[in-house]
Amino acid sequence: SLSPADTEEPRSSSGQKVKIGIYFATWWALNVVFNIYNKKVLNAFPYPWLTSTLSLACGSLMMLVSWATRIAEAPKTDLDFWKALFPVAVVHTIGHVAATVSMSKVAVSFTHIIKSGEPAFSVLVSRLFLGETFPVQVYFSLLPIIGGCALAAVTELNFNMIGFMGAMISNLAFVFRNIFSKRGMKGKSVSGMNYYACLSMMSLLILTPFAIAVEGPKMWAAGWETAVSQIGPQFIWWVAAQSVFYHLYNQVSYMSLDEISPLTFSIGNTMKRISVIVSSIIIFHTPVQPINALGAAIAVLGTFLYSQAKQ
Ligand code: 3PG
Repeated sequence: SLSPADTEEPRSSSGQKVKIGIYFATWWALNVVFNIYNKKVLNAFPYPWLTSTLSLACGSLMMLVSWATRIAEAPKTDLDFWKALFPVAVVHTIGHVAATVSMSKVAVSFTHIIKSGEPAFSVLVSRLFLGETFPVQVYFSLLPIIGGCALAAVTELNFNMIGFMGAMISNLAFVFRNIFSKRGMKGKSVSGMNYYACLSMMSLLILTPFAIAVEGPKMWAAGWETAVSQIGPQFIWWVAAQSVFYHLYNQVSYMSLDEISPLTFSIGNTMKRISVIVSSIIIFHTPVQPINALGAAIAVLGTFLYSQAKQ
């Protein structure tokens, strides 16, 4: 089981803070680009199991090439490393495919509003599975997070149960992923970048048979033809962009997770979602009612209260 030290924040200097700030800004910017291309692809080609697989395949290939050409140094790993990585890869795969399925069913902004509830899941997982207890303010701060998400969900114009559940499952899976990853990287010689590279490769192996079983080449071929006839040959570049940016944003997020606690990571992640929610609403002309926006704002505010309460 986890010791409290797994969730403790390392002491940071001001140089360290600048570095984390740069990582965060890069992570958010890459993530906005990913979300836009991902949704453009899903609108024309509604096969989230394939697009999730391609994202992992593209990242794995990029890293294999980087190692082969020595742009990045390949990690020294042993069987124990890969064994320990397996459960992390399982939850990474579940969280990734669930979020992508969600975004194929609902507006990007809606998926991310629900995903802004991740800190609440972090508390529940730590409390129920790891036996950690928290000061009462922490539990109170979950009320606006849960209430805000609930308000946003019930007032969502294009509510869809699969879209909602996908985002919820993703929240749960990623809380485990972040805690396990942090533990897996601790005291190991594998850097955040290489840890994520190995995670992508293992997730790719796990996801591929499921993607074939759920969707499969027949559907993909027919869907691809339709998408290319609607969008034109540049459709392939949209797919390439969503895949490359998926890898890059995650790589940068792991480079920061390597240096911060899972808690700080979740808070940075919620702030990232504000940029995604706002930019996707503008780009996709997503209809929002004031009450719906209020729910999202309360949920995000709840995360700030939560971070205060946790400190
Ligand atoms: C995915 O495809 O994995 C999701 O878009 C993940 O979203 P997140 O990294 O913003 O939690």
